[in-house]
Amino acid sequence: MRTIAPFPATRLRRNRRSAPLRALVRETTLTPGDLIWPMFVMEGENDSHEVPSMPGVRRLTVDRIVAEARRAASLGIPAVCLFPYIEPALKTEACENAWDPDNLSNRATNAIREAGIDIAVMTDVALDPYNANGHDGIVRGGEIVNDETVEALVKMALAQAEAGADILGPSDMMDGRVGAIRAALEEAGHGHVSIMSYSAKYASAFYGPFRDAVGASGALKGDKKTYQMDPANAEEALRLVERDLAEGADMVMVKPGMPYLDIARAVKAHFRVPTYAYQVSGEYAMLNAAAQNGWLDGEAVMLESLIAFKRAGLDGVLTYFAPRVAEILNG
Ligand code: PBG
Repeated sequence: MRTIAPFPATRLRRNRRSAPLRALVRETTLTPGDLIWPMFVMEGENDSHEVPSMPGVRRLTVDRIVAEARRAASLGIPAVCLFPYIEPALKTEACENAWDPDNLSNRATNAIREAGIDIAVMTDVALDPYNANGHDGIVRGGEIVNDETVEALVKMALAQAEAGADILGPSDMMDGRVGAIRAALEEAGHGHVSIMSYSAKYASAFYGPFRDAVGASGALKGDKKTYQMDPANAEEALRLVERDLAEGADMVMVKPGMPYLDIARAVKAHFRVPTYAYQVSGEYAMLNAAAQNGWLDGEAVMLESLIAFKRAGLDGVLTYFAPRVAEILNG
């Protein structure tokens, strides 16, 4: 079947002639409902600290996190994702603070719940903010040990569910953690809690500013290549997603975002499950730095970078631009 008549019967520019015509033929849209807002929590009261490598992003004390969660809800953003900045004195090799029911992340989750804000709270299941050596897993003799880390992650996940988290985000890339967390949640009466697995998380240099934001840069010894994925691999990403879905993940994520859009698209096309991308700190820093220099139109590249995720077929995106873009989308 021939669907395109020869020129001049077909002039594809006709549908692009005016803004209303372009609106009529637009294939995808970006709405505040597509956004998950990652936030950095710190100790203290009514205070905030800037993150130099992430212009416009600040670490916030729990009371301010609550205020921002309220703002997010009023902007129509369906979820916030909490990352704690743990005081260096609390970081240990065993990472015990990670499953303390009263740790910073759990207090923030609880405070949002107590405030009765109608927003989903996502939490991060990984040991790096709590780890004296900055790794996502427990380190023994220079090795990141898998199974012992999974046991720690299960304790951490249960404490987060107990604090009131709606979505747990294992970002650690250990093997077997989704199944172990899912089983523990069922057993503890938290069967309603969702898991958004960081299934295809690459060993990326785009995480640099985030590690500054959570204070893990100084602590990290070595790299994360024995657990995060090789940027050269694509088929492996599909195996990881398939494995995590089989273990009980409700949603899956590809990370970073823009440089891995091929992976995100392939995952959505193959599995047809709720699929998200994380537009990471380095992507955010890059766009902002160029905008600050006057080299790019900051607002335009922000919107263009985000519609790309929708066009690729994704259900949503974690982005530090969330409040700014939601404000624009809401007019
Ligand atoms: C670690 C974690 C990282 C990010 C989210 N969780 C960094 C890392 O793996 O070193 C990166 C997020 C970002 O760069 O915005 N568990």
